[in-house]
Amino acid sequence: MKNSKLVQYYIIGSGSINELELLLSFKRENSNSYVVFLIDHFFKSISLTNKLPILENDTVIFVDTTNEPHSEYIDGIIETLKIKAIRPSVIIGIGGGSTLDIAKAISILLTNPGSAEDYQGWDLVKNAPIYKIGIPTIAGTGAEFTRTAVMTSKTKKLGINSDHSVYDQVILDPDLLTTVPNEQFIYTAMDCYVHNVESLRGSQNDEMTIAFAEKSLNMMEEIFLGEMNLEKLQVASAMGGIAIANSNVGICHPLSYGLSLVLNLHHGFSICIAFNQLAEYYPEVSKFKEILEKYNVRLPKIITPEISLEQINRIADATLKNERPLENAFGKNWRSIFTKEKVIELIKKM
Ligand SMILES: [Fe+2]
Repeated sequence: MKNSKLVQYYIIGSGSINELELLLSFKRENSNSYVVFLIDHFFKSISLTNKLPILENDTVIFVDTTNEPHSEYIDGIIETLKIKAIRPSVIIGIGGGSTLDIAKAISILLTNPGSAEDYQGWDLVKNAPIYKIGIPTIAGTGAEFTRTAVMTSKTKKLGINSDHSVYDQVILDPDLLTTVPNEQFIYTAMDCYVHNVESLRGSQNDEMTIAFAEKSLNMMEEIFLGEMNLEKLQVASAMGGIAIANSNVGICHPLSYGLSLVLNLHHGFSICIAFNQLAEYYPEVSKFKEILEKYNVRLPKIITPEISLEQINRIADATLKNERPLENAFGKNWRSIFTKEKVIELIKKM
């Protein structure tokens, strides 16, 4: 049976980022205490740092999110941080899913030996991490509320799944969402939409995750086919995150992992590319297409003549490695239903 851990504290509302100063004051115990701010590099050109209570002692790192988090990149940050003799009191992740996940991994690796790769898997973290605060600047990944720090290493895309990955404190300030470019905004939001659909249509859910996913899905449809409300979107994202973290993904995420691994695509984008071809499994695809049209997002064809058969094969193999999600979607005999031929047929349409 699952023993589900949730985020302990959260603050929600316009301007809630201003509460950060007070929250940090409780953690700045003496003159040696300092805070590490891990900020999405997108904010290098858009001034956000002037809103943050950064003191002279603190360390600010702009996180390169051009590619999905990689274990070697995380190890590199750890090496930089270990130059200081004293550990930081607080790690703060400010950004999208990648930045939030990197901050989770950093908080763990500062108190646990070895490299990020060593902790890819389930419940491998032994020592308590550094206290961490998550501040999302885009909505949909649910990363702010989950126990996974997603990353790729040389051979696999697998998160650090641990109670120690869960944020101690989250700040949901809808004002931070206003700078996200339209397409990225939609791709990431649709990640949440898909979390809800996969959670609800699988078999590994329970009454709690069903309640969260149903409400989140309704809110998403209200927001995207009715009137946009950023605060509501942050709540939907959080609820979708809780639902998926405590149930399982289905058909779309395994396909998206294959696409991301082989073609180096961002998570939200590859989710949209895959979900767009899954109408035979998920009736919600028609509403998803309505949303894309309303927001003028046209998905490009990614399986072009430049993509080799060998690459398509690798995408299919990586997809089929996700046994538990596929069992969640199709049942125990999923292999006889979701065959490699079927997967390749779907990939070729993308
Ligand atoms: Fe996702």
